[in-house]
Amino acid sequence: MDNRPIGFFDSGLGGLTSIPYIMKELPRERIIFYGDTARTPYGSKSPDTIRQFTLQIGDFLVKKGVKMIVIACNTVTATCLDDLRRTYPDIPVIGVISPTARVIANKCNHDDRIGIIATKVTIKSGAYEKKIREKHPGLNLFSKACPAFVPLIEEGIIDNEIMDLTIKYYLDDFVKEHHINRLVLGCTHYPLIADNLRRIYPDIRIISSSKEVATAVHIELEKRDMYAGKREAENVFYASDLSENFVNMIQNILGREKDELNIRFKNLDI
Ligand code: DGL
Repeated sequence: MDNRPIGFFDSGLGGLTSIPYIMKELPRERIIFYGDTARTPYGSKSPDTIRQFTLQIGDFLVKKGVKMIVIACNTVTATCLDDLRRTYPDIPVIGVISPTARVIANKCNHDDRIGIIATKVTIKSGAYEKKIREKHPGLNLFSKACPAFVPLIEEGIIDNEIMDLTIKYYLDDFVKEHHINRLVLGCTHYPLIADNLRRIYPDIRIISSSKEVATAVHIELEKRDMYAGKREAENVFYASDLSENFVNMIQNILGREKDELNIRFKNLDI
C-alpha cells in the first residue's frame, strides 16, 4: 500500500487525455499533473532542449513526493525515458510507447496496414517501429509526422474546418498510398481529434496511446504492491501557462467545472 501521488506530465494538455482512464480505473490514486503549456510543443524541438525541460519537470514532481512518474507524452518517451530512469533510480518511470506497442503487437496481424502518426521527434526516433518489431517483427508499419496538429489542439482549434483540412493535408495521400486500416495515435494530444479522424476515415480503426498508459500504470502498481489505500488529498493540475484554453480543455477532458478542479500555475523557469 502506498498513498503517495502519481506524477504525470506532458508538454501541454495532451497528457490529460490519459487522466480520465486513471480516474476511472484507479479512483483511489492521487494525481499530480504537470503540463508545460508555456513551452509546448516539444515535438519539433531538439532532443537536448526536450531533455532539459523534462528533467526540470521530473525534479518538480519528485519534490512533490510522487511514488511513480508517468510520461504522458510520446515525444518525451521517445527522447528521454532512459535519462529519467537514470536520474530517479528509486522511482518507477513509465513511458507511453512500450505499452502502446504491446497492444499493437497483440491486436494487429500481417493483413493490417498500420499507420503511426506522431510528432516529428517521435517519428524521427523510430521508437514505435523498434518497440513493435521487437514484439511482432512481421507487421506492416508506416509512419507520418503531423507537426501542425499539436499547436492547433493547444489553441482549441478542433471541432472546425481548419482542423479537418489539416488532417486531410497530412493524411489523405498517406492513407490512400499505404491502404491504412489501423491508425496509431502516437501523440497524447491526438485523442482530442479522434472524432475528426473517425468522421474523415470511417473505415480506419484507431489505437490510442492515452488509454494504454492507464493499463501500464495498473500493471506497475500491482507488480510493486504500490496501490493507494485511499486518496488523502485532491488531484492537482499544474501548468506553466494557465491560458483560458488550458482551463477550458481540462474542464472538457475531465468533465468537471473549473471550481471543482485544483488548477495551479507553476513556471519552472522562475
Ligand atoms: N503530447 C505529446 C506527445 O505525445 C506532444 C507533443 C508536443 O509537444 O509536440 O508526443
